[in-house]
Amino acid sequence: MRDIPEIATDVVRWQAVHGRNHLPWQQTRDPYRVWLSEIMLQQTQVVTVLGYYERFLARFPDVQSLAAAEEGEVLAFWSGLGYYSRARNLHRCAQQIVDLHGGEFPQNAERLAQLPGIGRSTAGAITSFCFSERVPILDANVRRVLTRVLGFTADLALAKNERLLWDQAQALLPVSDLYSAMPRYTQGLMDLGATVCTPKKPVCMVCPLSRQCKARHDGDPERYPVRTRKLSRRAESWWLMLLQDGNGRVLLQRRPSTGIWAGLHCPPVFTERSALQAALAPQPAPLEDLEGFLHVLTHRDLHLHPVQIVWEAQWGTPVEGAWFSASDWERLGMSTPIRKLLKNLP
Ligand code: ADE
Repeated sequence: MRDIPEIATDVVRWQAVHGRNHLPWQQTRDPYRVWLSEIMLQQTQVVTVLGYYERFLARFPDVQSLAAAEEGEVLAFWSGLGYYSRARNLHRCAQQIVDLHGGEFPQNAERLAQLPGIGRSTAGAITSFCFSERVPILDANVRRVLTRVLGFTADLALAKNERLLWDQAQALLPVSDLYSAMPRYTQGLMDLGATVCTPKKPVCMVCPLSRQCKARHDGDPERYPVRTRKLSRRAESWWLMLLQDGNGRVLLQRRPSTGIWAGLHCPPVFTERSALQAALAPQPAPLEDLEGFLHVLTHRDLHLHPVQIVWEAQWGTPVEGAWFSASDWERLGMSTPIRKLLKNLP
């Protein structure tokens, strides 16, 4: 049924005609630019990344300028992209490249994957794009494409099956003309996963691999990839203390360096409304409950309950933090829901 050498050839040929070839990070083999794009593109769509990518490069044009920056400024340029551990790892990674690698990116995936924030798949993407290294990638899109083509039914919740799939991905790589074939093949698998081999209703009619595809042959591509253990989620309630002084300034803290919104600015958070209220005692400031809303994170449903309090300067500062006016907010790293909340304060 499947003809292994043909798969790479078909993907490469298809990518040249039907794939995405005009994205900004495809016009270069500079590992700094490609690395930045790959980190931004994890969990974020291309259309969203475009603007962030340009602004980030204008401010941090190379790995040295990024390594030398304050973390707070890096987070500010990431503000709104979400998954902020990506930005903190990006910054640490830049520092390690400068401090431990003389400012040069390692040119093979194995060494690249030892740096912060770079997993095996991201490392493979970077070195296949920049150095035409013959290494596979296996992000969520590519995992779906390959399990379908191969009819790979083993449970990916088990590490040994995940390793088997990596081995298969390695075996499918192009064997000739690697300088141009490797970047095209890597990009082609990503493009197929994003535009043709979609989770629901894949468009097998236009797929270059439909002839060899086991899942299509068996008639149920949507059952792939097979994974028994699902992501665990839980719900959490956060009461947000929105203290406003007479000049419209708001008290903000920096979140701890680990956990949700780590390192970002945020109003003080309490897991109980009563604790928020107790922190303000004995001052007689009235509490105004604003409309609550849900913010969905990968592992958490965050129920946010903003409570507005007009605070008088003579009462001092009831909790740790600093006062910031609207003109300061822009340069602070902040999550999107908090930025919106502050902007829309009554
Ligand atoms: N997602 C991850 N990497 C990508 C790339 N190089 N092009 C488009 N989408 C991507």
